Amino acid sequence: MGRLLYDESNLPEIKSLKALDYDTVDKNTVEPVKRVGVLTSGGDAPGMNAAIRAVVRAGINAGFEMYGVTRGYHGLWKGEIKQLDGRSVSETLQRGGTFLMTARSQTFMTDQGVLKGARMMEAYELDALIVIGGDGSYKGARALARIGMPVIGMPGTIDNDISSTEYTIGYDTAMNTAMQCIDKLRDTASSHERCSVIEVMGRNAGWIALNVGIATGAESILIPEVPYDFNRDVLRVILDGRNTGKKHYIVIVAEGVCKAEDIAKQIEEATGIEARPTILGHLQRGGSPTLRDRTIASLMGIKAIDCLVEKRFNRLVCMQHGEITDVDIEKGLEMTKTITPDVIANAKRLG
Ligand code: F6P
Repeated sequence: MGRLLYDESNLPEIKSLKALDYDTVDKNTVEPVKRVGVLTSGGDAPGMNAAIRAVVRAGINAGFEMYGVTRGYHGLWKGEIKQLDGRSVSETLQRGGTFLMTARSQTFMTDQGVLKGARMMEAYELDALIVIGGDGSYKGARALARIGMPVIGMPGTIDNDISSTEYTIGYDTAMNTAMQCIDKLRDTASSHERCSVIEVMGRNAGWIALNVGIATGAESILIPEVPYDFNRDVLRVILDGRNTGKKHYIVIVAEGVCKAEDIAKQIEEATGIEARPTILGHLQRGGSPTLRDRTIASLMGIKAIDCLVEKRFNRLVCMQHGEITDVDIEKGLEMTKTITPDVIANAKRLG
């Protein structure tokens, strides 16, 4: 288990309340890292285990002591911190979810919460913390960085909606899971000459819906980034299909747009075609990670350790132009990312 169990009222003070600018600081004056914590935060994503495994193994190879923090930032406050060795991450590469477990933490958004997290890092003598999660989790990491605790972020979410990176760990597995489910739904929609309306995850981002829609030949794809008109974007497409002899239809809705149930009802009322809604929901978050997620998670884990070895702290590991690299956490969180019009135009050309 971790080091000492501290009385909450008697946590050590943190050494610094100010982030160093690691781009400009003389690296010889920066203490090398010895003990590193890793946690997963926010929604789980397939490949998070591969990321933890890579961080732990590469960290140990670099001479660090590695510590796992369970239940995200929540576990950090509670001191749920234990040392991990190379063997403790055996048999995790192919497993979905995160063996460190995860949580969505509101308290960490408060100054008090962040300060307590930093003091827990001091108590457990963690010189740096690797946070695997989405932009929300990165904000917690940035808050720690701003009061002098070195952090590294790694992108883990099925939504692919992290601004600093082209790719997030879990995205490929989630899309493949959704694609396989929709292929099955197509079989039954085709046998019954029905319309299948499928709600996929993505409250604010349509990446899963768009790509899965292209991969499954959906008639219509509704995403949060593009306002839709039911008559033009759903009804017209179905009716045009029917006029050319089409007998079954696939409509994909990102969860942030509307309910699959409502769209199915509208379709049935307007066309007389039987429509059935399906919500894929958390199915998309589980399962064994694909090769792409395992390899990218592993390479990103190595990059996170490289940053620590090189004393380049407060970085976000990311993919840019297909390469695994890293950006400053402040700059990374200011970036924006959206689905480009050409991707949308391409999807329309197939619809
Ligand atoms: O992790 C991302 C995500 O799966 C989103 O696609 C979805 O909107 C949300 O998490 C669901 O969150 P929860 O599991 O907390 O209900």
